[in-house]
Amino acid sequence: MQVKIVDTSLRDGHQSLIATRMTTDEILSVLPEIDEIGYYALEVWGGATFDSCLRFLNEDPWERLRAIKAKTKKTKLQMLLRGQNLLGYRNYPDDIVNLFVKKAIENGIDIIRVFDALNDIRNLEESVAAIKKYGGECQIALSYTTSPVHTLDYYVDLAQKVEKLGADSLCIKDMAGVLLPNDAYELVSRLKATINIPIELHTHSTGGVAEMTIMKAIEAGVDIVDTALSPFGSGTSQPTSESIQYALMGSKYDPKLNIEKMNEAAEKLAKIRDRYLESGTLNVKALMQNPNILKYQVPGGMLSNLMSQLKNQGAIDKLEDVLKEVPRVRADLGYPPLVTPLSQMVGTQAVINVLSGERYKMIPNEIKEYVKGLYGTPPAPISDEMRKLIIGDEEVITYRPADKLKPQFEEIKKNYQDLVSSDEDVLSIALFESVAVPFLKNRKSVVSSPSKVDEVVEINLYI
Ligand code: CO
Repeated sequence: MQVKIVDTSLRDGHQSLIATRMTTDEILSVLPEIDEIGYYALEVWGGATFDSCLRFLNEDPWERLRAIKAKTKKTKLQMLLRGQNLLGYRNYPDDIVNLFVKKAIENGIDIIRVFDALNDIRNLEESVAAIKKYGGECQIALSYTTSPVHTLDYYVDLAQKVEKLGADSLCIKDMAGVLLPNDAYELVSRLKATINIPIELHTHSTGGVAEMTIMKAIEAGVDIVDTALSPFGSGTSQPTSESIQYALMGSKYDPKLNIEKMNEAAEKLAKIRDRYLESGTLNVKALMQNPNILKYQVPGGMLSNLMSQLKNQGAIDKLEDVLKEVPRVRADLGYPPLVTPLSQMVGTQAVINVLSGERYKMIPNEIKEYVKGLYGTPPAPISDEMRKLIIGDEEVITYRPADKLKPQFEEIKKNYQDLVSSDEDVLSIALFESVAVPFLKNRKSVVSSPSKVDEVVEINLYI
C-alpha cells in the first residue's frame, strides 16, 4: 500500500533545529517547490510558530497563515494544536478554543492535529467538536511515551476512545523520538487491528532509530509518516524526506514524491539553514545523534532548550546531571509524557533541582497547578508524599480543567477595542497577551504614523 508523507520542514523542522526562527518570507520562498512535491500535507502552523512570530519575529501569525495558503495551491495545510491549551501554555476557556479553531480553518488550515500532553480526552473534547463543526479534518494524536503505565493496552484503549470521539485519523506522536522499531511494529499492528481510521507516525531522529522505526511502522501498515526536507531534517527533527523516498522507491510503499522538486526545495532551504548555522541559532549538537535520549526520554526541542538554558546560566557542564534528573521528576509527577507544556515544566523543575543543589527547594507555580489537576489527570497517581511536598493540603480537582473558566473573548475585545481590528487580533491577545499587545501597538503606530496619514491625504487630493 502506498505510504503518504507529511512534510514538517516549515513547522517542527525549524522548531526542532532553529528554535522556530524561520521567517514568513523564508517560508514563502520555498513553497512553490514544496507544493509540487506530492506530499499529503504540509505542517506549517501551530506548535511554537505562533508564539515565535509575535515574540521574536515581529510578525502576525495569522498573516503568515494567509500568505502560506495563498501560495499553496495543491497541498493541504496542517497545524498542531495542543487541545485546550491551543498554542499557549495553559488552559483557555471554551469560547476562545472554539473561535480559535474556527479562525484557523477560515484562514487556511485543512488538517488540525490535536493532542493533549496527558492524553486526557476531556481536554480534547471542545477543540475536536469545533474542528468538526467548522469542517476541518480532525486528527487526534496520542502523546507517546514509555513508563510503567504506558503499555500497549493503554494505547489501544486510548485509540478506541479517539475513534469514538470522531477523529478522521490518529497520529502516534513520538515527540521524544523514543519509539523503537520493534515496539512501533507491535503498536501499529495492534492499532490497525483495533481501529479503522488511518494511522500516522510522527517521530524524531534524535536517538538515531527513527528511520528504522518508520520502516517497521510501514511494514505494520501505517498509512502516513512525517518527514522533513534534508536541510531541516534529521538530528532533533524528523527523518529526511528525500532519504525516505529513496528508501521506499519501487516498493509497494513508494510514496511517489517528486525527487527533482524535493532537491530544488532542499537547495533553497539549505541556504536558509546555512544562515542560521552561521549565526549560531542552529547548534550543531542538535544535528548529532544522541542515543542517550533513548535512556532519558527527552524530546529534541526540550533538549535544545535545556542546552541553551544551561549555556545562558554558564552551567552547560551540568547537562548530564539535568538529563538524569528529568526521569526522576517525571516519575515523581506520575509519568507525564514530555511534551509541551509539560516538557518545559519538568525540564525547568529538573534544572532547578540540579542547580539549587536540593530537590524541590523551589517549585514553579505551573508544577503546583499540575499537581492540583489543573492540566488534567496524571497518567499515574502522584504519591501522597510528593503531593504534600508540592501543594501541601491544597485540594486536587476532579472536574474537567476548563469547566470553571469563564468566557473571555468579549471581555478582551472590549478591553482592547482601540487596539484590535479583527477577531484574530483578539485571539492573539487571549493567547499571548504580554507579547501580542506590544506587537499590535507597534503595528498600529506604524500604520497611523502622521507621515503616512499625510501621504494618504495628499494622494486623495490628487484624485
Ligand atoms: Co515533533
